[in-house]
Amino acid sequence: MALCRTDPQDIVVVGASGDLSARKLIPALYNLEAENLLPERGRIIGYATEQWSADDFRGHAREGVAAHSRTGLDDAVFERFEKRLDYVSTTDGMDALAARLGEDECVVYLAVPASAFVSLVGDLDRSGIARRAVLIIEKPFGHDLESARALNDALHRVLPEERIFRIDHYMGKETVQNLLVFRFGNAVFERVWNRDCITQVEIAVAESLGVEQRGAFYEETGAIRDIVQNHLFQVLAITAMEPPVTFDAEALRNEKVKVLDACHPVDPAKVVRGQYTAGVIDGQQVRGYREEPGVSPGSTTETYAALRLDIDSWRWAGVPFLLRTGKRLQARESRVTIAFKDVPFHLFTGASNEHPIHSNHLVIRVQPDEGIAFTFVAKQPGPEVRTQRVRMDFAYGNSFKTSPPEAYERLLHDVLHRDHTLFIREDEVERGWALVEPVLRNPGPVYPYPAGSWGPPEAEALAGSAHWHSLVDPGEAGVTATSESPPR
Ligand code: BG6
Repeated sequence: MALCRTDPQDIVVVGASGDLSARKLIPALYNLEAENLLPERGRIIGYATEQWSADDFRGHAREGVAAHSRTGLDDAVFERFEKRLDYVSTTDGMDALAARLGEDECVVYLAVPASAFVSLVGDLDRSGIARRAVLIIEKPFGHDLESARALNDALHRVLPEERIFRIDHYMGKETVQNLLVFRFGNAVFERVWNRDCITQVEIAVAESLGVEQRGAFYEETGAIRDIVQNHLFQVLAITAMEPPVTFDAEALRNEKVKVLDACHPVDPAKVVRGQYTAGVIDGQQVRGYREEPGVSPGSTTETYAALRLDIDSWRWAGVPFLLRTGKRLQARESRVTIAFKDVPFHLFTGASNEHPIHSNHLVIRVQPDEGIAFTFVAKQPGPEVRTQRVRMDFAYGNSFKTSPPEAYERLLHDVLHRDHTLFIREDEVERGWALVEPVLRNPGPVYPYPAGSWGPPEAEALAGSAHWHSLVDPGEAGVTATSESPPR
């Protein structure tokens, strides 16, 4: 049911006074306005507990755009944008909101804690809004498999699956979508994208930030629920999936689900959980997780998780997928690293030629410094045959000379057009929870790691005889200086 720009539709932001709305949603809608991608006729109605007037909401939106829009704030665009803004307080209730909305289809974004979803969906139903709404909800979709099923059942009592858009913002990132184009738009990679040529796959989401003001939320969540079960599994599914027969939502999501179906549930013995202690990041002393506001001094919640997954499929059997994520790590770095098999024997022998393992690897930098690099062995110039690892690099900034749109811009745009391709289907959510269920039930110890490190040393052992690749790229000069090419 793709809609056009000329079809009227209002957008309701429930939780419009909150952090997500100010930092992400309002700036994303503003940037869609700047690019003429919002419906010609459509209001953006804030709904929240504050007793604001529409003008108060406009002021709040202006601050959010000024502080967080990737393109800054342009007065002429904002003038157009603010004409769309309207506000209803929860004190006046859902019926007042329903009266404000017309009879046209609308989009309702639940930018509120997950614990409020079920009762809000009931209110949308009673007020009659649900009958003409599509609903956007944010992760976490439940807390475990059982609660995710209960949430899906509660949603389906009111709305069919095709009117539910579950957001995992990693799917809105250009670099994650480009992984699909890279794999299925270039025939050459498909030939080597399998167990015959690949020896291991690593997927990392490293953050240098701590839990910030979200200590209380994070205590109940931890890295496995916050990042592994959703962002890491989504990137895993795209990296490992078979080519879909078409690029439509169901074909693509069917293939993602097949990957999750083929994964072994995570073995608790193949998981290392960690928690940051005080340390230094970018020269600044930072406190440990247990000292963060809202966190219990005896907390065993993990702020780091590394795990090994095995996929039982013809393409991947025997290839370890090593996943890791953590807060307060040395740097912000999300990437997929594909390590290819080594040559069967070394032709260029001799003391000066080292043979690093995994000479060929492909690094897909999801963020920052978005791009793709391939490393291979080259001959150093000179009369002797001396080898050295070098890098070919594609960088978005150099090739496209433009900053990629924010994930939320793309995702909101797709909801307006009712395109489900980048959204998470009910069965994907449940498969993801089923995979982490063993470790949620039996989490094992949590190892300390100092803020500013790369996580607990215990995670090293997970890679077995292979090894984790660094999350930091050596520059060309750095490659020359490494042990892979000893100086003459
Ligand atoms: C969110 C998590 O989903 O993703 C946060 O709840 C995390 O804890 C964030 O910081 C990371 O997103 P990004 O886009 O900065 O990698």
